[in-house]
Amino acid sequence: MRSIVLQTLGGPDQLAVVERPVPEPGAGQVLVRMRAASLNYRDTLILRGGYGSRQKTADLVPLSDGAGEVVRVGPGVSRVKAGDRVTASFFQSWIAGDPNEALLDDDLGRAHDGVLSDYRVFPECGLVATPASLTDPEAAAFPCAGLTAWSAVVTVGRAKPGDIVLVQGTGGVSLFALQFAKLCGARVIATSSSSEKLARLRGMGADHVINYREQPDWGKVALDLTNGRGVDHVVEVAGTYRQTLRAIRPGGLVTVIGVLAGARAEILLPLVGSRAIRLQGVAVGPREGLEAMFRAVEAHRIKPVIDRVFDLDHAAEAYRHLAAGRHFGKVCIAL
Ligand SMILES: NC(=O)c1ccc[n+]([C@@H]2O[C@H](COP(=O)([O-])OP(=O)(O)OC[C@H]3O[C@@H](n4cnc5c(N)ncnc54)[C@H](OP(=O)(O)O)[C@@H]3O)[C@@H](O)[C@H]2O)c1
Repeated sequence: MRSIVLQTLGGPDQLAVVERPVPEPGAGQVLVRMRAASLNYRDTLILRGGYGSRQKTADLVPLSDGAGEVVRVGPGVSRVKAGDRVTASFFQSWIAGDPNEALLDDDLGRAHDGVLSDYRVFPECGLVATPASLTDPEAAAFPCAGLTAWSAVVTVGRAKPGDIVLVQGTGGVSLFALQFAKLCGARVIATSSSSEKLARLRGMGADHVINYREQPDWGKVALDLTNGRGVDHVVEVAGTYRQTLRAIRPGGLVTVIGVLAGARAEILLPLVGSRAIRLQGVAVGPREGLEAMFRAVEAHRIKPVIDRVFDLDHAAEAYRHLAAGRHFGKVCIAL
């Protein structure tokens, strides 16, 4: 079988195709023929060694998000059978409830090998059924970005009709957040650096759009769009808290998710405390959330926005495409 391996830290140039024997599933394990994978922003950081001290620094099969079909199962497996279409859960052993350090350390494509391989063995608890309404690349788009958006908007945010949710940029997490917020009946203010992408956001149902490059005070613009009340929830993937704290209403929710503008941000604490703002970190989510999200996706025929699907031989190009920031939605790789 072919696997993509990050031979050493650096960038997409350090990715190589290697031939390896197909692994055998042991007790409680499942062999999956991977059919598709998708990239997330974090995967570009991992190539450079920018994702914490516990990430593998050599010989890493990258990517957390993938889907395929079960080839065979090891002794004692009862959740899936040969032929089932399955999607891998981002945290392989976080099933439900609060996480702990060990559960958060059991993600794919960082400290442990990921999914960019023709075949991979998973523990049976690390897989969920792929909705019949999704193709494999579509299913592979969801585990990290989709579940993060679901956790932020639905599980933590409890978005309801009439709420105003603000999403930033047109990457994976933000477009899913837009889709889930609309599903819940919320109004959405969406930002982008590109007027062309703003038009596409409108096409997806965004009620208001702001070009954050042309309007660096976009927080004030968002506040004005709510007639001074403020937005109920900012799905914070950028780390631009100065503007976010201008946009949010007193008592509103900021889900702390991403670092697109940098890993450090200055927060004026009185703006949080005296206005009763809720800052809540989101770490993707447990398998239970992935299953709940997939039920909603199937019931409402929600499709991910897929920007482009590369083949395995062009995996490095897929990384470069994502890093260039020209994408709208998800970048996938077919296996
Ligand atoms: N905590 C978690 O569980 C979790 C899970 C998933 C992702 N994340 C984090 O969330 C962030 C987004 O991840 P992703 O995979 O969705 O990224 P992505 O698909 O690579 O999205 C990149 C897009 O974000 C927009 N962007 C870039 N810089 C921005 C800025 N300063 N302000 C506003 N928008 C900006 C751009 O959109 P335009 O071209 O439209 O401007 C860019 O195309 C990353 O920092 C990632 O590490 C965290």
